Amino acid sequence: MKILIVGGGGREHAIAWKLAQSKRVDKLYCAPGNAGIVDVAECIDIKAEDIESICKFAKEKEIDMTVIGPEVPLSMGIVDALEAEGLKAFGPNAECAQLEGSKSFTKSFLAKHKIPTAGYLEFTDKEKLKDAIGVFGYPMVIKADGLAAGKGVVIAEDAVQAEKAIEEMMGDRVFGSAGDKVVVEEFLTGIEASMLCFVDENSIVPMESAQDYKRIFDGDKGPNTGGMGTYSPSLIFTDELKKQIKERILQPTLKGFQEDGLKFKGVLFIGLMIGEDGPKVIEFNNRFGDPETQSVLSRLETDLVDIFESVINGTLKEQPINWSSKKAVCVVLASGGYPGSYEKGKVITGLNEVDEDVIVFHAGTKFGQAGNNEILTSGGRVLGVTAIGETHEEAKKKAYDNVKKINFEGVQFRKDIGIIHSLE
Ligand code: AMP
Ligand code: GLY
Repeated sequence: MKILIVGGGGREHAIAWKLAQSKRVDKLYCAPGNAGIVDVAECIDIKAEDIESICKFAKEKEIDMTVIGPEVPLSMGIVDALEAEGLKAFGPNAECAQLEGSKSFTKSFLAKHKIPTAGYLEFTDKEKLKDAIGVFGYPMVIKADGLAAGKGVVIAEDAVQAEKAIEEMMGDRVFGSAGDKVVVEEFLTGIEASMLCFVDENSIVPMESAQDYKRIFDGDKGPNTGGMGTYSPSLIFTDELKKQIKERILQPTLKGFQEDGLKFKGVLFIGLMIGEDGPKVIEFNNRFGDPETQSVLSRLETDLVDIFESVINGTLKEQPINWSSKKAVCVVLASGGYPGSYEKGKVITGLNEVDEDVIVFHAGTKFGQAGNNEILTSGGRVLGVTAIGETHEEAKKKAYDNVKKINFEGVQFRKDIGIIHSLE
């Protein structure tokens, strides 16, 4: 089989790494890929959002399956475009991709199907929204409706902060049209956790769990990031909690998709708040999480091609999915200054010194000048050092022992990934 992966981050490296292990794969391509993905796939110089060129490439090369990593091409309708050419794609169509692309779409879906979530109101008029400041008390959760690269959510502590956020979203339009509609929510308290599920028209199958560390600094301090590390399985998901999630969230979500004619296929990533009255949905994403995928797929024993194919064919229900009982820890190395502004082009050293059984998934990396084999930083999150062990403790030690071997100017990483502080 010939498979094309769309994207170029740590998540796509993990997907490519896993697909490359399949005996069914003859050729793997990745558009655009990065300096680590080249080890397992041929990287093509096409941007993930350049749908026209991706379709043209997939057609010319007679690609059997295109796997889409990031949310932006999904929302732009890449799956619809590929399918219109008679090509197979793993990921939701544009209609279903609204579950991540529009907060208001998701909130009305959740409300309609009585799936537990925060109470909300939505606004398209800035003055009406300002009149509603404090409706749910404080902190006030203010969200740009559309995609905003993970930056569209503001938790305002008081009316002054709320007014500033509203002015930025709707007045200055810092997120462009993504902020033309704004959703205001009740503030939920509890423990945050995420659950990734494979979904086709007939079933929704949770993967092994992973715990993400979203804040930049140890002890969950500082601003939110795309994710600074993960461990899997997450210890938060007790059998009782899994049962509640299945009954209150997964089953009604699948039923809701079927009732609303949403033919979702791909990965549904459910952001949850586990509070005193049980799990509630914070958000849906319509793709694998990054860096959740790095630790989850490193524990997958089943051929990922078989799973993707079953989702595309609507036979996920019959597809066995086996996971290793081992534990995984992924520590993200980020550029100095991230998630604020940061410099790129720093030389990365030590990559060749990493233990053989530790996987370094590349995110923002690129090659230096031709011929010198240097690998340079080219993004906020640069690498995800991922280790497997019999226990969380062993995986964590192995990951950090290898993190120490890698360096670049300004490197920052959390020292507490895999420490189960969230349960306290
Ligand atoms: P989202 O992009 O919707 O996942 O929001 C980003 C982050 O904001 C989440 O991971 C939560 O930490 C926080 N958040 C979003 N909505 C709420 C809410 N209703 N209550 C409390 N925290 C929230
Ligand atoms: N790690 C969070 C995300 O992928 O959205």
